Amino acid sequence: MVKTTIAEVPKHVDQEVTIGVWVANKRSSGKIAFLQLRDGTGFIQGVIVKAEVSEEVFQKAKSITQESSLYVTGIIQKDERSPFGYEMQVKDIEVIHHSIDYPITPKEHGTEFLMDHRHLWLRSRRQHAVMKIRNEIIRATYEFFNQNGFVKIDPPILTGSAPEGTTELFATKYFDEDAYLSQSGQLYMEAAAMALGKVFSFGPTFRAEKSKTRRHLIEFWMIEPEMAFVQFEENLQVQEEYVTYLVQCVLKNCALELNTLGRDLSKLEKISVPFPRITYDEAIEFLHENGFDDIQWGDDFGAPHETAIADSYDMPVFITHYPTSLKPFYMEPDPNRQDVVLCADLIAPEGYGEIIGGSERIHDYEFLKKRLEEHQLDLDAYKWYLELRQYGSVPHSGFGLGLERTVAWLSGVEHVRETIPFPRLLNRLYP
Ligand code: 4AD
Ligand code: MG
Repeated sequence: MVKTTIAEVPKHVDQEVTIGVWVANKRSSGKIAFLQLRDGTGFIQGVIVKAEVSEEVFQKAKSITQESSLYVTGIIQKDERSPFGYEMQVKDIEVIHHSIDYPITPKEHGTEFLMDHRHLWLRSRRQHAVMKIRNEIIRATYEFFNQNGFVKIDPPILTGSAPEGTTELFATKYFDEDAYLSQSGQLYMEAAAMALGKVFSFGPTFRAEKSKTRRHLIEFWMIEPEMAFVQFEENLQVQEEYVTYLVQCVLKNCALELNTLGRDLSKLEKISVPFPRITYDEAIEFLHENGFDDIQWGDDFGAPHETAIADSYDMPVFITHYPTSLKPFYMEPDPNRQDVVLCADLIAPEGYGEIIGGSERIHDYEFLKKRLEEHQLDLDAYKWYLELRQYGSVPHSGFGLGLERTVAWLSGVEHVRETIPFPRLLNRLYP
């Protein structure tokens, strides 16, 4: 017996193999049965012809239920009609477990029902494809930063300070002290950059945001590179190269998954460096010219604003130099203009919104101290962060890319809830 997986099937054309599978779907007539089989590595059709197998095997195929688990044995054949390119002529079936009344049937289900059954919904062809694309983005991220001399650093998740403002914190107790779940590892990454030069983190972050949109999760994963001796301009170059690399890797290594999702590839194939850039001032002007009369200089952009701006490009676009008042305390002001900072948000095309936030960081001790005071932050909690500016302070920059929004954009799925295995949303902690 040759035991294999669906992914390895191309190596076994015209050979007899055995695969452990689940039955995703089934269709049968008096003479033939078609089983849509999945094993985690992929999907393949199994064909059982009554005249070619024992009566017992044919009856097993006819009576098998959705999501039952089996060992199937059969001959692998090329099949030009299937997107995967192969099928199995099944000779034998061994039922491992008979599944009864699987709740997710091939008919349409509502979103809340599917979300309540996320632990099972993950098995679907569509969710499988999204998770494979997420995995490819994770793989390509490590590859990109390793190839470019970055060291992976893991900042803590339990923290005593708030990098991105104090309103969206998950508070908890750390024995007798107050603690928070990390909103961003950035401040720790700045310390790491002073030790290792170029670093990146990749971990979960938490925002107690009361936002219920297609772009917001309560728990999401962020990639946060931080670079010593790097200023605003060079920071943007790293971002556009990294994002382009992700797009190319997904196009190259996830063709089947993109096809399953019906993704418009032409939109992704266009992505290349350099990305267009506009300043916040230009963005305000653009919005005024395009019917957004209410927005004023100093206001933050909402989803409709970002989408309007993004729609005038077919590439991700950097919006740079936001007003100082809109951004966190650590951002370096523009040397020519104190009312804007050396920052950029990267807005993805097709309405997927901001996928990166980044900036040059303040490296002057006195100035940073002043900014902390203006933001009414506790200087004791930030003592260590200030000390980074007392011992060989250098210009440095970094950014954070939201994994789930990037997965949503590249997969072409509407809502971030489908881009993470078990989404934590405003009203959802189950399953
Ligand atoms: O713009 P943000 O808040 O930036 C930071 O946290 C910086 N400290 C990063 C840095 O410079 N090291 O978040 C960065 C990115 C956003 O652009 C977005 O892609 C994602 O994280 N993000 C979210 N994704 C899903 N749900 C949420 N609630 C998110 N909030 C931010
Ligand atoms: Mg942001």
